[in-house]
Amino acid sequence: MEIIVVTGANRGIGFALTRVLLTNGKTVVAICRRPEESSELKQLAVLHPEGLDLIKCDVSREEELVEAAAVTQKRHGKLDVIFNNAGIMPEGGDESILKIDLGLLRLAYETNVLGAVRVIRAFYPMIARSERPRILNVSSGLGSISAKDDYSYYAYSISKAALNMLTRAVAHEFAAHGVTTVAISPGWVRTDMGGEEAQLSPEESALSLAKAIDGIGPDLNGQFLDRHGRIGEYSW
Ligand SMILES: NC(=O)c1ccc[n+]([C@@H]2O[C@H](COP(=O)([O-])OP(=O)(O)OC[C@H]3O[C@@H](n4cnc5c(N)ncnc54)[C@H](OP(=O)(O)O)[C@@H]3O)[C@@H](O)[C@H]2O)c1
Repeated sequence: MEIIVVTGANRGIGFALTRVLLTNGKTVVAICRRPEESSELKQLAVLHPEGLDLIKCDVSREEELVEAAAVTQKRHGKLDVIFNNAGIMPEGGDESILKIDLGLLRLAYETNVLGAVRVIRAFYPMIARSERPRILNVSSGLGSISAKDDYSYYAYSISKAALNMLTRAVAHEFAAHGVTTVAISPGWVRTDMGGEEAQLSPEESALSLAKAIDGIGPDLNGQFLDRHGRIGEYSW
């Protein structure tokens, strides 16, 4: 039975993926800041009392993640996948670099990059013992430097580009231990972040992401994948 940590599991893509993974028979350690406020997540916990483990945790707090990893170790004794999904887009999108509040850039980096670093550091000792360890960092087409052709979403784009570099470097560091680390884009999804105009429902994105989690292995280590787990759509 595979055990998967999903951060930001209370809404959007994280919640939809949690539901699909549970349906597929996986055990999900669902990390979110306020599980008590997500009635959907609580309903899911009732439906899957064995499969869903809710842990209250903010990815910007290292001590909470260390505690979450200790609890996971105690309850499950192992971990196979880290799905680094929690993320923010703190800006309007049309700001000029001359005027944008630097606090927005710090905020995006804090959650989208350092949050992922903290999750990896806290759970790595467990994942390193898995037979098929995988780390998926949820990136975005907006994090692609080569595809950048405007100046929208400075804070978010810069942070996702940094997450991509983190992914590539971590992939090199952990390769010798058999860990597969990738950046993966969920597509443009109708969530609070993606907005109503987006192409995909959270469920459509989650169904493909769940298959990608199943399918990826060392041959894809260090790659920037689409939601199906394929190379080609996204360039660094
Ligand atoms: N939607 C898209 O079209 C799209 C496209 C490309 C990439 N992505 C990426 O996909 C991921 C999920 O996006 P989404 O569309 O599902 O966004 P969303 O609906 O805004 O959900 C974001 C999730 O991240 C959580 N989160 C934010 N900061 C956190 C923190 N400090 N600690 C713990 N959890 C935190 C939120 O929890 P709270 O409820 O507590 O705020 C929420 O569960 C993000 O990394 C995003 O950048 C999305």
